[in-house]
Amino acid sequence: MSEAVLDVPQGLIEALRNARHVVALTGSGISAESGVPTFRDAQSGLWAQYEPTELATPEAFEADPKLVWSWYQWRRELVAAAQPNAGHRALVELAGRVPRFDLLTQNVDGLHQRAGSCDVVEYHGNLFRDFCSARCGAPDSIASAATEPPPCPRCSALLRPGVVWFGEAIPSIAVDLANAACAECALFLSIGTSSLVWPAAGLATLAAANGAVVVEVNPHETGISDRAQYRLAANAGAVLPKLIDLLLR
Ligand code: APR
Repeated sequence: MSEAVLDVPQGLIEALRNARHVVALTGSGISAESGVPTFRDAQSGLWAQYEPTELATPEAFEADPKLVWSWYQWRRELVAAAQPNAGHRALVELAGRVPRFDLLTQNVDGLHQRAGSCDVVEYHGNLFRDFCSARCGAPDSIASAATEPPPCPRCSALLRPGVVWFGEAIPSIAVDLANAACAECALFLSIGTSSLVWPAAGLATLAAANGAVVVEVNPHETGISDRAQYRLAANAGAVLPKLIDLLLR
């Protein structure tokens, strides 16, 4: 959406200026402008025949570790070639402009960290980590470039990508940090997420229950649009820098 069309309500700017604690929850939409397909975009090439939900599961890895591993290696290459965009960078700027800022992401692409964000709470893990599929206690490792899942150096079970798969629990540390932040924040930004996947989808409601101003940044309506006092129906890469610009005026 062009800058001229983007109308940011004065009430939102005042709320942002006065907020002593801001939480941002991001989804794959914030990485869309970096060229990383959103989670529900159609897969391309070889992978067009698969639904992510068919591959991102412990059962799929158990049945065909090499196939699942190859899919992640393809995603790793795709994401490694992408660059953080103005939306990611605006959140780095925002973190330096509010007394307390918590960044929660459902994304596994690491683009927030590459943009300069610190202490990112990764709800669904990170594409560029591996861990032991038998969870033997071996420490996580940097993603292997091997074409097949390598053996765990400690127990020889296969290593797997360090992401949370469908049907798996969100790391409890991420849940605790996210819930604590949402229970205390003054303003909650839901950015580029369809708010379909729980428990992340419940965070806007948790923030609203504590009296936070809820703001949604998404060109399309979602399951939490009705809880948002403000909806900015535009791309994060246009909206977030605009919010920073207005905040600093
Ligand atoms: N700016 C803001 N929002 C955008 C943009 C953009 N440039 N482009 C797309 N969107 C919005 C879409 O309208 C959609 O609502 O981003 C959202 C992306 O939704 P999904 O593809 O469902 O991704 P996400 O919400 O992150 O999925 C959550 O579900 O499948 C699991 O683990 C997966 O982390 C993922 C989780």
